[in-house]
Amino acid sequence: MPSDKPLRALETPSLLHKMRSDWDERARENARHYVATAQTDWSDDSYFDSGRLSVFHEILTDLGNVCHQTNAKQMSVLEIGCGSGRMTRALSEVFGEVYAVDVSGEMIRQAKESLRDRENIQLFQNNGQDLTVLGDVQVDFAFSCIVFQHIPSREVIHSYVREAARLLKPGALFKCQLQGDTTMDPTVPDDTWLGVPFSEADAKHMAEDCGFELRYTTGVGTQYFWLWLFRH
Ligand SMILES: C[S@@+](CC[C@H](N)C(=O)[O-])C[C@H]1O[C@@H](n2cnc3c(N)ncnc32)[C@H](O)[C@@H]1O
Repeated sequence: MPSDKPLRALETPSLLHKMRSDWDERARENARHYVATAQTDWSDDSYFDSGRLSVFHEILTDLGNVCHQTNAKQMSVLEIGCGSGRMTRALSEVFGEVYAVDVSGEMIRQAKESLRDRENIQLFQNNGQDLTVLGDVQVDFAFSCIVFQHIPSREVIHSYVREAARLLKPGALFKCQLQGDTTMDPTVPDDTWLGVPFSEADAKHMAEDCGFELRYTTGVGTQYFWLWLFRH
């Protein structure tokens, strides 16, 4: 059954503005720490190695679902919420072309600086709720990790899932992570650190509404609630 939880009543323009300004401020203070909180003082090597490790766990161990027997070097990939490029670099080492978006202009500025040696990455600051900045580009795989867990609006997350469906080729995968701990429902509605949680039923409803089959999940009820969404 779809959830009957009400959508948050926040004015979207003020929330979008707050997401951008809060993440810009975090990026100016210590982007790498706010992207990956395990350390406060990441070296280049350790930061990008942590991205490689995440790509290994979430993508390279799952190539059957991600690639459908296509050579990854022939594939284009979309990353939603790329931050300062921690995983983007690793994605560019696996896939042919990477399109990466983030709401924070400061994150994107730092990502551009760190990834300027990578010719197959295109980085965009987006509006915090959709992928119109990418036009009608078609991608073979879409990915988002530790991003939706920070978005305090069910509508915004829903919009990203619908947009991923718009850009993905039929049958392709959007693998994304949500906050699944429904006891963590934020009491401050525009807190841009603690995102809105999803139950399994919420996720299934969103998937169907956006043109996806929710084929697998892991981590139901936890912070690391992963969805395998296959484009119809
Ligand atoms: C914890 S960081 C994770 C970055 C990257 N996914 C990684 O794992 O290295 C979360 C990122 O999501 C971005 N973000 C937060 N809300 C967003 C939104 N509404 N739209 C796009 N990006 C958003 C933030 O600016 C930040 O760069």
